[in-house]
Amino acid sequence: MSVRRRLVVANWKLNGDLTLIGKMSAALNGLTDTTAEMVVCPAYPYLGSLSASKVKFSIGAQNMSQYTSGAFTGEVSASMLSAFDVKYVILGHSERRAIFGESNEIIAEKFALAVKNGVHPILCVGETEEQRNNDETEAVIGAQVKAVMDKVGVKAFIDAVIAYEPVWAIGTGKTATAEMAQQVHRFIRQQVASEDQQVADTLPILYGGSVNAGNAKDLFAQADIDGGLVGGASLKVEEFLAIGRSV
Ligand code: 13P
Repeated sequence: MSVRRRLVVANWKLNGDLTLIGKMSAALNGLTDTTAEMVVCPAYPYLGSLSASKVKFSIGAQNMSQYTSGAFTGEVSASMLSAFDVKYVILGHSERRAIFGESNEIIAEKFALAVKNGVHPILCVGETEEQRNNDETEAVIGAQVKAVMDKVGVKAFIDAVIAYEPVWAIGTGKTATAEMAQQVHRFIRQQVASEDQQVADTLPILYGGSVNAGNAKDLFAQADIDGGLVGGASLKVEEFLAIGRSV
């Protein structure tokens, strides 16, 4: 088995400001004691300033359009992201699926465009509490991964990342136990392996959902957990650094 890349990704959602951009940049530029690639995904307006200041960490966006150009007011394209050194884009976050009605098909279209433009997708999947209670976790996640894989082909996952984010663990302080998370991560890796073993072996699979400095080490120690996608705790500079050091 090959060594996989480790990533710790900050998803700031609709939070953060120029002050936090400055503080986080200074702190991450000086962070040397982690083997993880640190990624910050702020709201769109801040991407340009991170890019212009040539930060030492990676830049990601939280979303992008499924269209390339044209009369789509309010949208941002993959090529626009790539022009600003945006290396990653979070796609299919459960908040996009639930609040903004993004379907697996739309997410698959975005995934294809991101890859085509050299932006690495971070594909989010996860079950709701009700689905977990009904024993539908694997069926739901399997379908979310398959919808994208069928459209773009397994080879498009070579430069991609998957994030497992159980919806019931997002912003609730309820984390999946390390064992629960590991079980789903293994399931996802096996699903990708059924199409292509090599892609599965090198695919980083991140855990997200109430990750903090206290639980990160235990989660990241699991065989198939290659880092984290962090919401609330990524808005606190010291805590985000501590999560990075947990890798
Ligand atoms: P929290 O870490 O705030 O639970 O959010 C997780 C998340 O949605 C990251 O994408």
